Order: sequence, then structure tokens, then C-alpha cells
Amino acid sequence: MTSSLLSPRNARAKATDLHAKASPQFAAKLAETQALLHRAAADFAPVTQASSLGAEDMVITHLINSLQLDIPVFVLETGSLHTETLALLERTQAHSRAPIVVYRPVQQSVIEFVREQGQNAIYQSIDLRKACCAIRKTEPLSRALKGQKTWITGLRQEQSTARAEVPVLDESEVATKSLYKFNPLACWTWGDVWHYIATHKVDYNPLHDQFFPSIGCAPCTRAISVGEEFRAGRWWWEDEAAKECGLHVKK
Ligand code: ADX
Ligand code: SF4
Repeated sequence: MTSSLLSPRNARAKATDLHAKASPQFAAKLAETQALLHRAAADFAPVTQASSLGAEDMVITHLINSLQLDIPVFVLETGSLHTETLALLERTQAHSRAPIVVYRPVQQSVIEFVREQGQNAIYQSIDLRKACCAIRKTEPLSRALKGQKTWITGLRQEQSTARAEVPVLDESEVATKSLYKFNPLACWTWGDVWHYIATHKVDYNPLHDQFFPSIGCAPCTRAISVGEEFRAGRWWWEDEAAKECGLHVKK
């Protein structure tokens, strides 16, 4: 192999170059998504967007800003995010019209968990991993959703078999939690997401250029290889069935 083929430029193809490819129904999907976000703001307030700062969430925040909707955004800053994600959070806070509100875990709970279970507890058992997610994600999520009627997420049907049935409007938590959940990109493909990012020059996490399609906390996310599934880099040491952190798990 020649040295030019091994050059960092080839090794670092941009995610926009690799993935941007609109599906044939893209224009209709976009119009539907815009209408849905208008509807969420008008008829389902108070409403907030949950953003992990992943590609899908950056698209939704961009739409909220360009449509000038009164939908604040929240980010669960778990204390274990990649430096690239934290830098994107700062940039997004600086440029977003919609407020970006950050929720962090209760410091004392994190300290106690690490002291009692050790720094590497999350790799030792699914229960300990889920306990970490409960402290760093689920508890802050319950604070973020307090007083809200509706939340908006970036879940897509294509992301995994467990998400294949994700509806655009999920009413399954209305009876138990009085919460509506909008998944405006439910029917978007990965190509649609990147087509939008490329067309509108949306800022995104540079880890996406390094084969991280799905990005969570640093200790629990790795790059994927050719042929691996979309979420293969999340909690890669666990069985497929366990791979949810509790944010979207139905009781
Ligand atoms: S997870 O449940 O495995 O962590 P995933 O990373 O696929 O979920 O993200 C799905 C959706 O959950 C995101 O589009 C976003 O709406 C929400 N979400 C995930 N992580 C966060 C976070 N750290 N802060 C806010 N919302 C998040
Ligand atoms: Fe903890 Fe990993 Fe869950 Fe983040 S994803 S809260 S580090 S177990």
C-alpha cells in the first residue's frame, strides 16, 4: 500500500461525506418533522428537547432554532462525557437561540458509588452498570422532566431492533407519568440525518468522523468497525438486550 493511502486524510473521511444521502421521501419527511415540532410547541407545551448532542439531536436543535420555536433543550452532563462532546456542548450553548440547560448528577451519589464500587464497577455487572446510569442519567432526567408535559428525543426506528417500532408520537407514558414523547426523526434514515447536517452546515461531534455513530459516556462508547450494528459501540461488553440506559426503557 502506498503511503498516500495511509495518510491521515484518508483515515479521517468526514461523516458528512460518508453518510449524507437523502432518501427519496426526504422532502416530505422534513416537512412532516417541521409541522410536528410546530405542533409540539403550540399544543403540547411545556415541552423540552432531550439532547445527547449526537447527530440526530443536533438536527432537532437546528430545526427548533430555525423555526424559532419556544422549546428549550436540556443535556444530561453525566460527568463522563468525551471532551469532544463537552466542547460541542459549549459551542451549542454559545450559538443556540433556544436555551441549552445542563443537568448534572448529584455529586455525593457519584462519589459514594465510586468509593463503594470502584472506578471500574460498570464493567463488572449489568446491575452495577445500571446503577451508574441511574445516578448519572435517570435521576437527572427526572429533574429535567419535572413540570414538563412533553419531551422530544432523537430516537429513530433504524437505530436498533428494540427501536424498530418507535412512534413519532409516543403516548405510552401519559397514563403513568403524564408525559408525551415526540420522536420527530423516528422515520429518518442515517443518510437523511447526515444530508440535513451537510445541507445546513450543522455543527456536530467530531467523534462521528471517527466511526462513533452512537455516542454516550466515554467509558461506555467505542468506535464501530465495518459491518457492525449502529449501537454496537455502546456497552459493547453486554448482551444486545441489556443495551439501554433507562432513559427510554418502558417499565
Ligand atoms: S441511550 O438511551 O442509549 O443513552 P441514545 O444515546 O441512543 O440513548 O439517545 C437517544 C435519545 O435519548 C437522544 O436522541 C436524546 O433525545 C436522549 N438522550 C440520550 N442521552 C442524553 C443525554 N446525555 N442528555 C439528554 N438527552 C439524552
Ligand atoms: Fe455510567 Fe456508562 Fe451509564 Fe454513563 S453510560 S451513566 S458512565 S454506566
